[in-house]
Amino acid sequence: MKIAILGAMPEEIDPFIVEIPTQIDYYAGNKFYKAEFAGHELFIAYSKIGKVNAAITATLLIEKFKVEALLFTGVAGALKDNFKIGELLYATKLAQHDLDISAFGHPVGYVPGNEIFVNTSKKLNKIAVKTAKDLGLTLKSGVIASGDQFICDDDKKAWIAKTFGADAVEMEGASVAQVCSAFKVPFFIMRAISDVAGHKAEIDYDEFMENSAKTSADFVLKMIEKI
Ligand code: ADE
Repeated sequence: MKIAILGAMPEEIDPFIVEIPTQIDYYAGNKFYKAEFAGHELFIAYSKIGKVNAAITATLLIEKFKVEALLFTGVAGALKDNFKIGELLYATKLAQHDLDISAFGHPVGYVPGNEIFVNTSKKLNKIAVKTAKDLGLTLKSGVIASGDQFICDDDKKAWIAKTFGADAVEMEGASVAQVCSAFKVPFFIMRAISDVAGHKAEIDYDEFMENSAKTSADFVLKMIEKI
């Protein structure tokens, strides 16, 4: 099967490049690593941060490289107290917290023609749960809200958690979800917590991002063996 592994930053996909011998292809300002792993053809890339960058790379992976499933790996800020730094969480559904035409009476996160939330693949989520069980790892699930902002403010954090019932916040997942859903490609969004998105979250992020990115990537690598 052709499987895409997508992260936003080099740190989020580096563990794959280190573990698996890869070939490189350049296209539209993106670098794509190709590899054979566990009987699959992998297409590995980092998009750069943000929803637009992630949407471009996800679209290329689907339209140019014809991937049949997409696994996103990376870090997120926790919005709820039950998610701690270093913990793994996969998204059950995702929304864009900064998509706002509420001036016209619409709910935040909604634009005509789309739903507020995009659901992830139940089949891939089940494989993740089985992977975690077999490895004896704790894997949580939750709602992820994405937006083009690093959240490091307690009021903003509380607003996103309440408005979307969200458990974690990041800057790409919902755009990748929208692309995959438009092309009917099953997708999975894995995140490890790097910070708790409140006041001074950037300090925790700087300290824990790399470790959490590796935790997430290592998990996805194991998960591929079960696909
Ligand atoms: N990714 C990791 N932590 C984040 C935060 N606090 N806000 C947005 N994206 C993040």
